[in-house]
Amino acid sequence: MAEFQSVRGFHDLTGEELRRFRYASDTIKSLLKLYNFEEIILPVIEYLEVFQRSIGEVTDIVQKEMFVFQDRKGRLLALRPEGTAGTVRAYIQNRLYALKPYVKLFYEGPMFRYERPQAGRYRQFHQIGAEAFGISSPELDAEMIDLVYNILTKLGISSTIEINSIGCRVCRPAYRKALSEYLDQVVGHLCDVCIDRKDKNPLRVLDCKVETCKEAVRSAPKMVDYLCEECAAHYQSLKSYLEMLSIPYRENYHLVRGLDYYTKTVFEAVSTELGITIIAGGRYDYLVEEMGGPPTPAMGFAVGVERLSLLIKELPPEEPLYMVIPFGNVMDYAFEVVKKLRDMGKKVEISYKKANLKKQLELANKLKVDFAVLIGEDEKRLHTITIKDMHTGKQEIISFPELAHESL
Ligand code: HAM
Repeated sequence: MAEFQSVRGFHDLTGEELRRFRYASDTIKSLLKLYNFEEIILPVIEYLEVFQRSIGEVTDIVQKEMFVFQDRKGRLLALRPEGTAGTVRAYIQNRLYALKPYVKLFYEGPMFRYERPQAGRYRQFHQIGAEAFGISSPELDAEMIDLVYNILTKLGISSTIEINSIGCRVCRPAYRKALSEYLDQVVGHLCDVCIDRKDKNPLRVLDCKVETCKEAVRSAPKMVDYLCEECAAHYQSLKSYLEMLSIPYRENYHLVRGLDYYTKTVFEAVSTELGITIIAGGRYDYLVEEMGGPPTPAMGFAVGVERLSLLIKELPPEEPLYMVIPFGNVMDYAFEVVKKLRDMGKKVEISYKKANLKKQLELANKLKVDFAVLIGEDEKRLHTITIKDMHTGKQEIISFPELAHESL
């Protein structure tokens, strides 16, 4: 075993795993650009209050999962557990609201949560998130879900999109009260954590994973039955837009999300294969105001890139690899060929090994080379290259000046 191991829950990404990861993130980012999201690069560290104020004091993330530390002046800082809080802080601090009628941003990068590591759950993981500020209409909610659906379709990942509405300042208090009263009646069946949540954050009881709690909330009152006129109309429009866009969805009346900032629409894409949530988001119409900015409706989602990568079945074929193998006093010509191939956009290795042809080809095989480009005294004199297809063994001589016109 190596003397040094990475910190528990922190992992290296290499090889095939990294290829999946990059394919996922490149695909997502190209789609985000088509929907006109602009990139923002955010710090990995924020003042602790940024997360406490936004995610909420009585959430698992803030109470149990943050990496918090003091800087040299004793200020409390935290490694970001998610990207929405920092984006909102940046939106206000940089007065982005003053620049355009609305602003659509995306970010990518590592997030940190002190959770129990398991398959698809890490302490450092990566998110790509999208946040749109300044739009209250349900068209945005539909378009965000459409974007999520497109990401999943493009990557060939089967999932179920679950939606719910958790109302607003007007309608949620009455629901909270009805739910608390209901929970009081079934308190004997709740786990200890939910007994505590029952008074502080009763909505969270709805998505507890403990079987007895799940059973106990099965006939709990539903938020959708308590929505005010505005929230009900918003939710209804969202559903009709999703139908217009032919996006399959499932209403999940127990979907509440683990962060406190949400209002109205919440949604998650759950993998059909693994049953885990890969993409999640929702509206947060009060958060900008609560963090000191002007009242600004907003909505977003974040993709767990590792989780998504786990589910990718097929990667596009890689670019073929060429290896230029020089024999004799031909390095000048070999460098010329290498340069030309790279100018043509080919991925090229040069053999650094001095050995006979057999050994060189063995090395090329080990390096998974697709085409060996053999360069000897004859090739140099005649201004040609000999190219060997490593898969079929077929060999061909090509004139160097013609190279650019060949379909290699
Ligand atoms: P979240 O549901 O906490 O939402 O995380 C979003 C996604 O990040 C999850 O669905 C999952 O794929 C991934 N994720 C979370 N924790 C882990 C972990 N420990 N290991 C691996 N992947 C993980 C948010 O973070 C919100 N900021 C989403 C949002 C953006 N809402 C509005 N805008």
